[in-house]
Amino acid sequence: MKIKSKQYHTIWLKENDPQIVQVIDQRKLPFSFEIMDLKSVSDVFFAIREMVVRGAPLIGITAAYGMYLALFETAEKNFENNVKEKAKFLKSARPTAVNLAFAVDEILRFILKEKDSSQIIEKTLEKVHFLKTQEILFSERIGEFGLELIQKIFNKKGTTVNILTHCNAGWLACIDWGTATAPIYKAHLKGIPVHVWVDETRPRNQGARLTAFELSEEGVPHTVIADNTGGHLMQHGKVDLVIVGSDRTTIGGDVANKIGTYLKALAANDNNVPFYVALPSSTIDWNIEDGLTEIPIEERGAEEVAEIEGVNKSEIKTVRLIPEKSNVVNYGFDVTPARLVSGLITERGICKANKQSIKSLFPEKQ
Ligand code: MRU
Repeated sequence: MKIKSKQYHTIWLKENDPQIVQVIDQRKLPFSFEIMDLKSVSDVFFAIREMVVRGAPLIGITAAYGMYLALFETAEKNFENNVKEKAKFLKSARPTAVNLAFAVDEILRFILKEKDSSQIIEKTLEKVHFLKTQEILFSERIGEFGLELIQKIFNKKGTTVNILTHCNAGWLACIDWGTATAPIYKAHLKGIPVHVWVDETRPRNQGARLTAFELSEEGVPHTVIADNTGGHLMQHGKVDLVIVGSDRTTIGGDVANKIGTYLKALAANDNNVPFYVALPSSTIDWNIEDGLTEIPIEERGAEEVAEIEGVNKSEIKTVRLIPEKSNVVNYGFDVTPARLVSGLITERGICKANKQSIKSLFPEKQ
């Protein structure tokens, strides 16, 4: 996607220095556009943990690059144990998005198979780039399938399609295109009039800060709303479709996504608004069925709720919102039960949120 007319991905290798991975520092957007160098496994861990990079697909690919960087730090003696330790460390950076474990395990398996090769570094990098390219392709395909949904609504309605989204499941959360935003970008490029309701997404405001930034950059009409507005808009016929992303979806179709998603699904269900989840297969947890009891939900620091960051006279400032003595709890995600999900938009097509339907698209995952 374009930032100031230059084409960007969210992660890449520094030109002329293959030992440095570069990412966009998403903590600074939309106030400033800064690139951060990641030179070690601990830099990668920091970037994921502190949400320099965030969003399930990007977390996965950043960790895959982390495994590649691990090869420069791992002595030949006791290689296998050391590299396994680094994989374990990277996987502990954040608990909810399953893409993290998926990507680390995939690269770890590859490294252990190649461990006696003189070209292990080059080959691992190729493998990382394969996963990265695959994620771009997955997002683009999700866009094509989701476009069909938007097209159908437009054909019936004849005027602007209003789509509500939560958090940021855009290209910043992925490598390019995004998951929830890919159908929106495809529709916009095709000339279908779309308008996006962007939930601000407290506490970190990924909607207000990142999704709104992306949509502005791409010229997609949108309106930022306070998190509690969606239900009201749905009751008044102002939302035609909800599309959100996911951090982990079980084989039973339960969807973990940014905190507040469940409430949007309840409101959508009550108002007969279709509620779709866009996700690549790297976000499906093939080992668990019941999201409510089996998906680990991240709890983050109290300061994210107690404080808010903004810009004042071009200076980024943080201010406190609540009394000093008040308690705070900060759950990062919630689980939307499969029964509230109209469908899953994947890279292989749209399916129902249940085991049979998911397996019919991915028969090899038995
Ligand atoms: O805490 P984050 O910003 O990493 O969470 C990201 C989300 O919850 C996204 O909305 C989600 O859809 C996954 S990324 C496509």
